[in-house]
Amino acid sequence: MNFELMTWDTASAGDEKCDVLLMLLAATFKPGRDPLSALISKALKAGDLADKPASLLDIYRPVGLACARLVLVQVGDAKAGNIGKGVRAAMALIKAAKPKKLSVCFAQAPDNQTLHVALTTVAEASYVYATTLSKCEPRTLTHVKVGVPYGADLATPFAQTVAAISGIELAKEWANRPANHATPSHLAKAAQALAKFPRIKCDILNLKDAEKLGMGAFLAVAKGSAEPPKFIELHYKGASKTQAPVVLVGKGITFDSGGISIKPAAEMDEMKYDMCGAASVLGVFKALAELQPRVNVIGLIPACENMPSSRAVKPGDVVTSMSGQTIEILNTDAEGRLVLCDALTYAERFKPLAVLDIATLTGACVIALGGVRSGFFTTDDTLSTALAKASESSQDLCWPMPLDEDYAEGLKTSFADVANVAGRPGGAITAAKFLQRFTSKYPWGHLDIAGTGWKSGSAKGATGRPVGLLLHYVLSLQTSAA
Ligand code: BES
Ligand code: MN
Ligand code: ZN
Repeated sequence: MNFELMTWDTASAGDEKCDVLLMLLAATFKPGRDPLSALISKALKAGDLADKPASLLDIYRPVGLACARLVLVQVGDAKAGNIGKGVRAAMALIKAAKPKKLSVCFAQAPDNQTLHVALTTVAEASYVYATTLSKCEPRTLTHVKVGVPYGADLATPFAQTVAAISGIELAKEWANRPANHATPSHLAKAAQALAKFPRIKCDILNLKDAEKLGMGAFLAVAKGSAEPPKFIELHYKGASKTQAPVVLVGKGITFDSGGISIKPAAEMDEMKYDMCGAASVLGVFKALAELQPRVNVIGLIPACENMPSSRAVKPGDVVTSMSGQTIEILNTDAEGRLVLCDALTYAERFKPLAVLDIATLTGACVIALGGVRSGFFTTDDTLSTALAKASESSQDLCWPMPLDEDYAEGLKTSFADVANVAGRPGGAITAAKFLQRFTSKYPWGHLDIAGTGWKSGSAKGATGRPVGLLLHYVLSLQTSAA
């Protein structure tokens, strides 16, 4: 999909040749003297366009305008919530007509946040998954022009949003692929493909390398599967060497059957999404490749399958993590924390500014926060403030969760330094407490995206979250020196 930023007033928008012209009308809209303004005024006066947010009016071949179809949508206060709602409603209406060229016109200058929400919503509504369909209709929407009033300087946020969309779509693509089309080896290839862009480098560590490093927790999970594990390392170098990197660690369980502690059959297919964290890291790198910002970012993806077999790790087994801490694996379905803890230890070597892990870690987080906000855990004030800001500006929302020491009680065991599960209460937090044990060397944050990485039910599909959130955070760290 191609995005183009234009400056428009209602007069020039009326002259725009396109399949659909989508006008976002804020409550403060002041009509001019052009035909489009006249039409809007008439519709408003006649009450044919209600003044409630997300109200729509669809007009076929409007006289005096160059577009094939005009869609008016009310966006009320023109804040992010109403812009999202309005664009979603309009896209649902427009979709059936399969437009190729869409022009979206802001009657009132958007801010960075509303521009971001409008464009990501257009992209979201027009996305189609195609990879494993023998016959499929690819996305029809190829050109999106975005019109903002004269004088609005939105070039930078526009470029960032376009790059975010590209990253979100790469993340969705990999997350949606079934597990047999998205093995650890496939993910490694996808990461290597990103290394063809300037400033990006990719290294793949294989089973032998992980053994040499002593990644006993990661390898315990990988053991049950015939698919070879891959530990993916991506580097984006946009700032000077002296600038400490941010490390993003993405959980890359390409299929989570639960292992010997096997999951029930219902909806087990959705565990192909257990690499949404990994996919989001790939997505961020795609966006970095397009934007080439002045930051240093490292991506780590421990990728493997969690399967039962005669070689699989068993409940009660004790393994030694790369940190030297021994872990009693009481439940093989709590595998995410096992692959992550070795990646977190590996991250120490980069002397990071901060490490953020992103994981579909716990069903408990889905119960706690649903699909609206990702759970965010940190004890670092700088990270906490930065993520809260990025959450707002990207509208890819997260919410602070606690890390009180008392939550770690249940992880105690007589047979190892730590157990990999506590009881059911506070499951998202006890998982985070487990991870925290491996992060003493740097500021650390953890995003549990179990509820936000994908949607279940009839609209089943990856969301591409939290690529927007991560990208906004990473870009907030840009330095002025190259
Ligand atoms: N990948 C799952 C978490 C998950 C479950 C995400 C359902 C989204 C929907 C994770 O590996 C897991 O199985 N976690 C267990 C942990 C438990 C055994 C302590 C869980 O949440 O049930
Ligand atoms: Mn699991
Ligand atoms: Zn899992």
